[in-house]
Amino acid sequence: MIRIVFSTGNAGKLREASEILGAGFELVTPAEAGIREEIPETGTSLRANALQKAQYIYDRTGLDCFADDTGLEVEILGGAPGVYSARYAGEHKSFDDNIDKLLREMARLEYEASIARELGLKTGHATRRARFRTSVALIFKGEKHFFDGTMEGSIAMKRAGSGGFGYDPVFIPDEFPDRTVAEIPEDAKNAISHRGKALRAMAEYLGSIV
Ligand code: IMP
Repeated sequence: MIRIVFSTGNAGKLREASEILGAGFELVTPAEAGIREEIPETGTSLRANALQKAQYIYDRTGLDCFADDTGLEVEILGGAPGVYSARYAGEHKSFDDNIDKLLREMARLEYEASIARELGLKTGHATRRARFRTSVALIFKGEKHFFDGTMEGSIAMKRAGSGGFGYDPVFIPDEFPDRTVAEIPEDAKNAISHRGKALRAMAEYLGSIV
């Protein structure tokens, strides 16, 4: 059994990680490790943020720990919101505001592209294609390791489903082309998700050294 702190305050991530990692892992929350304050996340890349969150726990507790940082990259938005996915609509906005802004910005750019086409102007071929990308930073016995995972898909025209969390109600994964991630069972999401891939890679690594 590997006892390890998952540096997150996100209940959805914690639930998924314990399902993905399974019975060989005992996941400890920051609060259970004595860390109750909000953990800073100020990096400009997913890896930097993931490491910052894991390092925060390690520096204060010395315990083995990991963190994930996730971004949604949308083609027509030039890869945004990416590392800024959690605060896309601004600080202290609700999550619904993030999704509203995403759908609004995409509609605006698609409209502009359609006008440009009507005027015979050259436009790019950017589409609603998107991907989730997760970087996991692990600090185990004081050593740092990184594991990445992606899930490819596209952004729906409107929300559907009540499962998952975050942007799941508007993300249509390639594996289930007529449903959003919020409409598929959690074990199906974990089998194909960015977080599932990154955490299974971490588990495989730990299995090989412990
Ligand atoms: P962070 O990794 O906590 O910084 O997450 C960035 C943003 O992406 C947050 O707003 C999350 O709600 C969202 N997010 C993270 N993981 C997922 C996921 O698996 N599905 C949908 N949204 C996610």
